[in-house]
Amino acid sequence: MKIVSKSSDETVSLGQKLGEQLKGGEVVALYGDLGGGKTQFTKGIAKGLGIEDDIFSPTFVIRRDCKGKELSLLHYDFYRFEVPDEELIESLEEGINPENVTVIEWAERVEKYLPENTIKVVFRYISESEREIEIEGNGFSAVIPTDPT
Ligand SMILES: Nc1ncnc2c1ncn2[C@@H]1O[C@H](COP(=O)(O)OP(=O)(O)O)[C@@H](O)[C@H]1O
Ligand SMILES: [Mg+2]
Repeated sequence: MKIVSKSSDETVSLGQKLGEQLKGGEVVALYGDLGGGKTQFTKGIAKGLGIEDDIFSPTFVIRRDCKGKELSLLHYDFYRFEVPDEELIESLEEGINPENVTVIEWAERVEKYLPENTIKVVFRYISESEREIEIEGNGFSAVIPTDPT
């Protein structure tokens, strides 16, 4: 399912709709170039989980944990880690459990460690304010309205 988001806010609210549907244990893998909107979308997921922390790319720490009321968000960004080490992969795998939602920017770097039911979201730059967002997996396309245009 593909949508064209016409603004940063629209991308946040798409993420929020997805976040509101999550029950815990899911992995949301975000793909696409720098500036594609992965972090904006993650902000929305956090909102949807009722998390009020500010969301930014955890570039230098690889993972940021944000505690929500019911579920925590484990937010990864593998931009700087083309070859993640074993310890990191172990902690990634441990974090995938019913108490957390795992969101991964630059998921291509850890693709082979992700569960089969991972929700994949691909971001493509169209113009300064437009991004194509493609969501696949887990039947979640059903929760996001298709673009009326
Ligand atoms: N439709 C859109 N969706 C998401 N971001 C957009 C959109 N239009 C413009 N932008 C801008 O593009 C940038 C996206 O940045 P970010 O979410 O950090 O990307 P990434 O994490 O993929 O590198 C932000 O500065 C945002 O304001
Ligand atoms: Mg980012």
